[in-house]
Amino acid sequence: LRQRRPVVAIDGPAGAGKSTVTRRVASKLGLLHLDTGAMYRAVTWLVLETGVALDDEARVVETIAPAAIELVPAATPDEPARTYINGKDVTEAIRTTHVTQHVSQVSALPAVRRMLVARQQRYGDRGGIVAEGRDIGTHVFPDAELKIFLTASLPERARRRARDLEQQGRAPVDLAQLEGEIARRDDYDRSRAVAPLTKADDAIELLTDNLSLVAVVDRIAQLYRQHLVPP
Ligand code: DC
Repeated sequence: LRQRRPVVAIDGPAGAGKSTVTRRVASKLGLLHLDTGAMYRAVTWLVLETGVALDDEARVVETIAPAAIELVPAATPDEPARTYINGKDVTEAIRTTHVTQHVSQVSALPAVRRMLVARQQRYGDRGGIVAEGRDIGTHVFPDAELKIFLTASLPERARRRARDLEQQGRAPVDLAQLEGEIARRDDYDRSRAVAPLTKADDAIELLTDNLSLVAVVDRIAQLYRQHLVPP
């Protein structure tokens, strides 16, 4: 009998803090971290870099299908994992506005989703992972032991993004513009035909506007223990 270790699914809209939270939850619970957004970003970067038209689905698929994607955890949970595609370190490149503006379009292509979801499911085959994205609890790991839908109000998400960008040493951004960009990406991710962003029926929603990072991580760790250890 093959026993699978538990899977935790963390979904939610852009800028809700999924990456930081997931990385810390993984470290605290001794699970692997799978950032599926980084995978969609990496293939988007590759398609843009190759110069393929984003609406040419056949060529987009041809470009992505043979690509090697690697996610390498950093030494500490304070730093993001490094992302490689075809051996190239694209960790910073996949967070640029250019990639961010096009990633929803690429990730809406059904064939692209099929390829990446298959890779994600292989990665989580034996469990022991916390995976973050938009469709983890609904499509990638519908039988995850614990599902969290992490969210925050739009103004709060824009403020957090602005802070992140500032910490990365980027030029100051206009909050209203940032809100507009996040809202557009949410709309796109929510309204696509295949595996749209939505809360799974059995996911627990956490609204994080007034919660610190530590409080969110502790809450998820507590839910994990409650769900996994029978009373
Ligand atoms: O979480 P993120 O901002 O890095 O994700 C980037 C984009 O990738 C997001 O706007 C939609 C897409 N995505 C997806 O469609 N499905 C996932 N499981 C994760 C991300």
